[in-house]
Amino acid sequence: MDVQLALDQVNQRAWTTRDAFREFTAEKKWTDPGEETAFAWLADECHGQPLLDIGIGAGRTIPLMMQMSSNYTGVDYTEPLLEKARLRFPNLDLRHMDARDMSALPDNHYALTAFSWNGIDCVDYEDRERILREMYRVTRPGGLVFFSTHNRNGPGFGEHPRQLLPRRCLNPLRFGWRVLRTVRQMPLALRNYHRNSQLHRDYEGYSIRAAAAHFFAIVIIYTTLPEQRRQLKSIGLEVEAVIGSCDGRVIDPSVQTSDAWWLHFIARKPR
Ligand SMILES: C[S@@+](CC[C@H](N)C(=O)[O-])C[C@H]1O[C@@H](n2cnc3c(N)ncnc32)[C@H](O)[C@@H]1O
Repeated sequence: MDVQLALDQVNQRAWTTRDAFREFTAEKKWTDPGEETAFAWLADECHGQPLLDIGIGAGRTIPLMMQMSSNYTGVDYTEPLLEKARLRFPNLDLRHMDARDMSALPDNHYALTAFSWNGIDCVDYEDRERILREMYRVTRPGGLVFFSTHNRNGPGFGEHPRQLLPRRCLNPLRFGWRVLRTVRQMPLALRNYHRNSQLHRDYEGYSIRAAAAHFFAIVIIYTTLPEQRRQLKSIGLEVEAVIGSCDGRVIDPSVQTSDAWWLHFIARKPR
């Protein structure tokens, strides 16, 4: 089975489900405390500078990035989500583009190149490297690359539909509602999980697993702190900070494992 192709097909289908639309158009500022810390870290340095926002979905990050600078370009490869973003922000430069090939964008230009909310996890490992190399290319010397990625040592690794089973509680009305919700969600979750778990793979520093989002409709990469640091170094990026999703704390460079759900990486392209 061609895993690369399969991941693309599965995930691109997931981005256009009703649940993905509901989630990406919901009023939400930060995905987690780590993202808030990361943006605070980036804000001063990127103030008034050219910014590239990759995988914008329906545009959640646009106001967050525009607070740093109005010199903004956003891209996404999922046209229906991009349309939503264009309706909300009709005057911005929002382009239909795959992050694996951003040849329409200039070399050495952006002060910040960002791919938020684990969007980079949706492609296979070779393509992840391709995307990071493209992010490196378009970022100017001395500029920053920012993205988040799922943590293989975190609680999200190995999600399974059994987690949708109703939790016991003393209130019969609340418990009844939970049972109904499970009855409604479980068949789709089981169907998706059964199909997508055929793509599960384990490698030295990363794994591929079905994730609970959109009723197990997506299949993503989970990586480790050392492997992500290694990959960035091999591309020529210097890790400036890694921030845990749950507590928003910067993880010390000597730390090898983290229990964060996902990790926010800020890396610098050398001058
Ligand atoms: C989890 S969603 C996050 C959306 C948005 N950044 C947010 O925070 O609300 C991931 C987004 O990345 C986009 N994406 C995934 N792979 C991509 C690729 N190779 N090129 C461009 N966009 C991609 C998807 O279309 C989707 O909109």
